[in-house]
Amino acid sequence: MTTSTITEARRHALDRAVREAHVLVTTGAGGVGKTTTAAAIGVAAALEGRRTLVLTIDPARRLAQAMGLETLEDEPSQVDLGEYTGPGELWAMMLDMQTTFDRLIDTNASSPAEAAAIKNNRIYRTLSSSLSGTQEYMAMERLHELHETGAWDLLVIDTPPTRSALDFLDAPKRMTSFLEGRLLRLLLKPGMAAGRGIGRVVGAGATAFIRVAGKVTGMDLLDDLAEFFRQFEGMYEGFKERAEQVLELLRDPDSRFVVVTSPDPPPLREARFFLERLQQEGLHPAGLVVNRIRPELPRDPTDAAVARAVDALDDDANAGALRLLIDIRNLANRQRRDVAASLYGVDLRSLVEVPLLGGDVHDLAGLRTIATTLMTGRSR
Ligand SMILES: Nc1ncnc2c1ncn2[C@@H]1O[C@H](COP(=O)(O)OP(=O)(O)OP(=O)(O)O)[C@@H](O)[C@H]1O
Ligand SMILES: [Mg+2]
Repeated sequence: MTTSTITEARRHALDRAVREAHVLVTTGAGGVGKTTTAAAIGVAAALEGRRTLVLTIDPARRLAQAMGLETLEDEPSQVDLGEYTGPGELWAMMLDMQTTFDRLIDTNASSPAEAAAIKNNRIYRTLSSSLSGTQEYMAMERLHELHETGAWDLLVIDTPPTRSALDFLDAPKRMTSFLEGRLLRLLLKPGMAAGRGIGRVVGAGATAFIRVAGKVTGMDLLDDLAEFFRQFEGMYEGFKERAEQVLELLRDPDSRFVVVTSPDPPPLREARFFLERLQQEGLHPAGLVVNRIRPELPRDPTDAAVARAVDALDDDANAGALRLLIDIRNLANRQRRDVAASLYGVDLRSLVEVPLLGGDVHDLAGLRTIATTLMTGRSR
């Protein structure tokens, strides 16, 4: 793909999604600007007149403050848009993973007493906050709950800083297979390892480990673990059904994914994989945001003319400034070449470049700047 076809690819799918979609999920590699983009989309949608809720995950402290999210609360609170107030509303909240998980237990347990017993189980308390994929799954679960309230035109959901952007798509599957407990059962009951030597060794090892750990910590871990699986047994079907509903919501044509990347090759590769994965899963992309890209600088005067001027100067400061100009131009060009090379052959609905701003984006003015770029494809 050439730079000009990238420009052509900006067919405004993203701004249409901000106006029309019911769910927008921002996703991408770690640190590329998912949370910032989710917040900026929220601002853009509110200015378009939509009643919008942004569900953020671990926003930077100052961004959280700008959105009035000083404490971790499980309920949405309205963002004061100040001078940017428009016809819509912006609400925001942070994901409270534990509360969401607890609520899921309340819904699925056979009785309030059973729910209380599970919530007091030490294994549950440890696993519910540390199991890999739990945060991703709970974000999707919370999204579904919010969707069911029917209170929002648009739900913008941020995704956690996962090792891989693909993690959360697998989270419901991973969660249900964990709850099925196949692996742990195998580890705990060597007899269940179908007579395979390796299974027996692993099983015996794990049991011994847990016994030792139980002695060392003075906790009766085995009892807790057995109790945990007994308690979850009856809830497994409910969890599985819920995971299916969550996937169904994500597959709806009104749910779209905004893939965010920086102009660096590793996140770009991840963005490409993610876009391809969306296609395979029948999910709907809203577009790609290339965040923190260097703005293109005009080619006038040409680099050669600038280089001649640098040579002619015996003023170090000015020569330095001009060299910097050439460096920034080259960097801006290289970033666009990397974007084009990484996305070669990918069916892109829309690509929006969001320039690197002067400082971190931690106030409504910064979000508004990004919101305008997202909606118009222009940085000014
Ligand atoms: N266009 C931009 N210009 C300048 N700084 C930016 C821009 N976009 C984001 N940032 C800054 O980059 C940092 C990372 O952004 P953000 O927290 O949104 O990334 P993330 O993808 O959500 O990270 P994580 O994977 O850790 O959740 C923040 O300090 C943010 O203010
Ligand atoms: Mg984030």
